[in-house]
Amino acid sequence: MSQTSVDEHVMTTYRRSPIAIDSGSGCVVYDASGTPYLDLVAGLAVASVGHCHPRVVAAIATQAARLIHVSNLYPTAPQQELARRLAALTGGMQVFFCNSGAESVECALKLARKHGGSRKRAIVAATGGFHGRTFGALSATGQPAKRTAFEPTVPGFRHVEYGDIGALENAVSDDCAAVLLEPIQGEAGVVVPDRDYLVGVRGICDRAGALLILDEVQTGIGRTGRWFAYEHFGVTPDVVCLAKGLGAGLPIGACLARVEVAASFEVGDHASTFGGGPVPCAAATAVLDVIQDEGLLDQTTTTGALIKDRLASVAGVAEVRGIGLLLGVRLREQRARDVVSAALDRGVLVNDVVPDVVRICPPLSLSEEEAIRGAEIVAQAIGEVIP
Ligand SMILES: Cc1ncc(COP(=O)(O)O)c(C=O)c1O
Repeated sequence: MSQTSVDEHVMTTYRRSPIAIDSGSGCVVYDASGTPYLDLVAGLAVASVGHCHPRVVAAIATQAARLIHVSNLYPTAPQQELARRLAALTGGMQVFFCNSGAESVECALKLARKHGGSRKRAIVAATGGFHGRTFGALSATGQPAKRTAFEPTVPGFRHVEYGDIGALENAVSDDCAAVLLEPIQGEAGVVVPDRDYLVGVRGICDRAGALLILDEVQTGIGRTGRWFAYEHFGVTPDVVCLAKGLGAGLPIGACLARVEVAASFEVGDHASTFGGGPVPCAAATAVLDVIQDEGLLDQTTTTGALIKDRLASVAGVAEVRGIGLLLGVRLREQRARDVVSAALDRGVLVNDVVPDVVRICPPLSLSEEEAIRGAEIVAQAIGEVIP
């Protein structure tokens, strides 16, 4: 199956890799001829427990044989169980289930405006931030290159410099329903704010009566070595958006909110036909079990540090930033795409998130041996591109 024959009937919204992937196991994917690739991309921070983890496969197969879909008109045991597990991880938050990261952000934005009432409509977000491609999420996204062609976007959004607490303070007034931020900006090139930034943001929100929405679509569910990245920064949000790693490949998103905030939604305010279906929920519960039972939070911290240490000493690298297994390797030249190619030639998948940053976001199940081997190969690829 050649790339051309696949893409002839697919809209050109992605720059595709020259290899087509046929199967996967653990942290390795294979093309149709059986060539293995160590996967340090994980389907864009999604395959959190590796490809085709037996417990996830079994959970999907068992649930699919029992019940695939009934809609949200009827409660199901898999959805109730996942909601219970997420509540336990977030100090008792309530959840709305959907199918993607963008949808979890849409839910958060609507909830914030419903909670804020007619006087509080504004949403403050950050430059460089990424929240998805649907119109609400796109309006919050602080990257004009992704937005301009689709304007007019949704009114009521203000953008301030990420990390600039003074700018945020000026932008958040009484008309503000919420501040929406990523605790680490993933798509901007893995930008980690100063340690006290989010604490400052929390204080500003509290003083203005605005909700703090943290978009943990990329950072959540163990990616940084804690269940949620906000745990590193000592803050508690009012609303949390999740997707990506939660279903380890099955499409599921979740918008979680403090019970008092969630209470602003009434019957009919929001909905999703497929959201929280039994199969993705069963898969997500299996993912949470695997992360817990296999000690993947601690493992993520260890393997992330191994990769960081190795790549920090490479001459072509200006900086390695990030926490756990969400790493951005900032190059001294804008050659990330060439590094991706050079790594692919050596059997390793990495991602050029911005022109000078290579993103590394492998499965949390990456072993120490794989981390060392992967980092070594990426180091060689960088050395070839930026001698
Ligand atoms: C922080 C963040 N929010 C939202 C999204 C959108 O998620 P999805 O592509 O599942 O709609 C992404 C995707 O990369 C993301 O990184």
